[in-house]
Amino acid sequence: MRDPDKAVVATLYSNEEGEMSYMVTYKGETVIEESTMGFHLRDQEFLGKDMKLLSFDSLLTNEHWEQLWGEDHTIKDYNRAYSFRFEDGQGRKLNVHFKLFKDGLGFRYEFPEQPGFEEIIIDDEFTEFTMTGDHMAWWIPADYDSYEYLYNTTKISGIDSSIVQGKELLASVTIQEKHAASTPLTMKTESGLHISIHEANLTNFSSMTLRVEDDKRTLTSSLVPSDIHGWKAKVQAPFKTPWRTIQIGETAGDLLESKLILNLNEPNKLGEPEWIEPQKYVGIWWEMHLQMSSWDLAAGKHGATTKNAKKYIDFAAKHGFKGVLIEGWNTGWEKWIGFPDREGVFDFVTPYPDFDIDEVNRYADSKGVDIIMHHETSAAPRTYEQQLDTAYALMQKYGMHGVKTGYVGPIIPEGEYHHGQWMVNHYRKVLKKAADSEVMVFAHEPIKATGLRRTYPNMMAREGLRGSEFNAWGGGNPPEHLTIVPFTRMLAGPIDYTPGIFKMDLSKYMDRVVPTTLAYQLAEYVVVYSPVQMASDLPEHYNEKLDAFQFIKDVPVDWEKSVVVDAEIGDYTVIARLERLGNDWYLGGVADENGKQLTFKLDFLQAGVTYEAEIYRDADDAHYLDNAEAYVIEKLNVNSESEMSINMAPGGGVAIRFRAL
Ligand code: NOJ
Ligand code: CA
Repeated sequence: MRDPDKAVVATLYSNEEGEMSYMVTYKGETVIEESTMGFHLRDQEFLGKDMKLLSFDSLLTNEHWEQLWGEDHTIKDYNRAYSFRFEDGQGRKLNVHFKLFKDGLGFRYEFPEQPGFEEIIIDDEFTEFTMTGDHMAWWIPADYDSYEYLYNTTKISGIDSSIVQGKELLASVTIQEKHAASTPLTMKTESGLHISIHEANLTNFSSMTLRVEDDKRTLTSSLVPSDIHGWKAKVQAPFKTPWRTIQIGETAGDLLESKLILNLNEPNKLGEPEWIEPQKYVGIWWEMHLQMSSWDLAAGKHGATTKNAKKYIDFAAKHGFKGVLIEGWNTGWEKWIGFPDREGVFDFVTPYPDFDIDEVNRYADSKGVDIIMHHETSAAPRTYEQQLDTAYALMQKYGMHGVKTGYVGPIIPEGEYHHGQWMVNHYRKVLKKAADSEVMVFAHEPIKATGLRRTYPNMMAREGLRGSEFNAWGGGNPPEHLTIVPFTRMLAGPIDYTPGIFKMDLSKYMDRVVPTTLAYQLAEYVVVYSPVQMASDLPEHYNEKLDAFQFIKDVPVDWEKSVVVDAEIGDYTVIARLERLGNDWYLGGVADENGKQLTFKLDFLQAGVTYEAEIYRDADDAHYLDNAEAYVIEKLNVNSESEMSINMAPGGGVAIRFRAL
């Protein structure tokens, strides 16, 4: 098998033991050595041995399609698909589908309809990814409940969750395998190839984690279990598993520019409804994380009051933000965290008495602003499902088109996990309910992104990583974080990172600093892609620095095209994006704690056009630890032949708007 450009070659064969196996090369270099495939099904012998090929076919696709919103408007889908139909010695049928692109491949299994396969209990999937050596890897542990970790940089042999356990303060941690990582798992070979393993179109199945075998280079799929049922997944034939994906790039940037995961998802099912609207938003949020106010009423400093909501609505209207998020508006927060009995606690239609939901919505309407609904479920999905109809009817009543969902804590019932099949199906049910109710979803504590935004473009963004909130209560996100995230978590899809903190010295609220410079915070709006971006800090902090705030006001959330200008995973990342249906380019760069002297060509700009570069950079003496808010704004005329030199301070960054003249 090969892709139409003949860069990626995959071979499917039976090894000496008669096991179904595959291997992959990229431009002649081995990427995946002999790796076996198959399943342990309940009460059956291993499926994946002694396979006889019944038939196969292949299909070339060469087309372009348009994203409703995204980091690129037009997506090229140029691949060759191969389908193999097998039968084993016992007459059991199994189909395997491959799709090869010039930057990698995906493959999936299909259980066709056949007697004895009406209901299939999967005790384990054994898909191996045998790497060619002990590569450098960027990873977080295979926690069944959370992706909210800092990335570790070690060899594959160093993947060990005991070194990250206990380091973090997490509401929910379930690590059952010591040497396993979540996906996307990104690696770099000695020869410089960048490889990332993930999955596409995770539907009605458990999420895949990767276990490191004793040889320290073979990764084996390890599905998140249901401990209640004692299985990894249960499906009905005919059934197709999610795609197992292997992205391959010569540079880190190639991985990010790859569209393989989107191309392995089904086309848009929602059309182009006008209620799906990429947007920036502000909200009653950071003040709770700073402990200035509280989500719950009983604590005595309730944040979600009618009066406070109006303050944020006024600020949003004045500065051109479409959305206002209000957390803590509904009853139940007294028992939301740390309570074992969280079933039936949250009420998604009843506001606290000091929050006049009618008046807040009337006021928002009068100012041309939309309220973003907040549904914290405290990981009690059954309570949420019971109220889906009434909760979404309430949103429809007020014309609300966005909801931020949340799943803090261990899942109730105990024995199900955030990343298991049962929750995968719950998240999908909510997404579909939202689509039917004309609502966009911003999911926190979500299942990982696998490209579903293509099919359901109301799936705007997810958290699914250690977001900005950790700067207030989790030891902070060190500057290195966002030099790794674009090449790991962000390969999966858009991130609700909640960027834009301007007040780095938090001593007024707590004994800590936000460990990045202000220019770095501005750059986050370009480096971290999301169609919904929050301006997270307090209005009063933005009011003190309106000149820098201008960048957040200007920066788009929907793009024609994106390019990675320069990057070294773990050291620095520079990304440029062209505004959708516009002429202006925006650039964001972030550096780790060592800073970075950048020199780059502006050859991404349109030739023959002069641009005014509005540069927001670190002051010469800026430093993320003790002079984080020192920035300089400069203007300069440039064109596509210009070269730029900019110094990013330790923990610093740069944000530039190239205004076409
Ligand atoms: C965790 C979310 O990530 C955060 O954004 C939110 O404020 C809290 N949960 C409360 O729902
Ligand atoms: Ca979170």
